[in-house]
Amino acid sequence: TNRTFTMIKPDAVANGHIGAILNDIIAGGFKIIAMKYIQLSKETAGAFYAVHKERPFYGELVDFMTSGPIVAAILEKDNAVEDFRTLIGATDPSKAEAGTIRNKYAKSIDANAIHGSDSDENAAIEGSFFFSHFERF
Ligand code: GTP
Ligand code: MG
Repeated sequence: TNRTFTMIKPDAVANGHIGAILNDIIAGGFKIIAMKYIQLSKETAGAFYAVHKERPFYGELVDFMTSGPIVAAILEKDNAVEDFRTLIGATDPSKAEAGTIRNKYAKSIDANAIHGSDSDENAAIEGSFFFSHFERF
């Protein structure tokens, strides 16, 4: 087995989709290793998305991700990173396959409902950014 990191983004939380999304994640075969409900500060969101600092949407991304509470979690499954990105669908929800989380719950490329790590290395970095060893089960 291995692990990935996710955030249910402020749009999906505000629109009442936490329960449905967690249900899809669990039904998809993922086990919850760690989870918290928090609102990011500009500093925290800016640091988390530092890899995107040079991209034109960085400011919008940080503003959006700090606009309300999120659910952050570490998930475990065989082939976790790739399978989770399949479960959530394309970054742009208008291109996300039917039945994927972004197809069902996202409205736009910026308010796209959910994050999924893009590599095993980033999954470990992102999980450690949010959770101590005492918060993983
Ligand atoms: P994450 O799982 O959130 O990392 O999405 P991703 O890996 O599918 O996309 P990527 O890492 O390239 O971009 C990170 C996030 O930036 C995306 O999820 C979007 O919320 C946002 N983003 C990407 N492209 C655009 C864009 O063109 N405009 C805006 N406003 N936001 C974008
Ligand atoms: Mg990404």
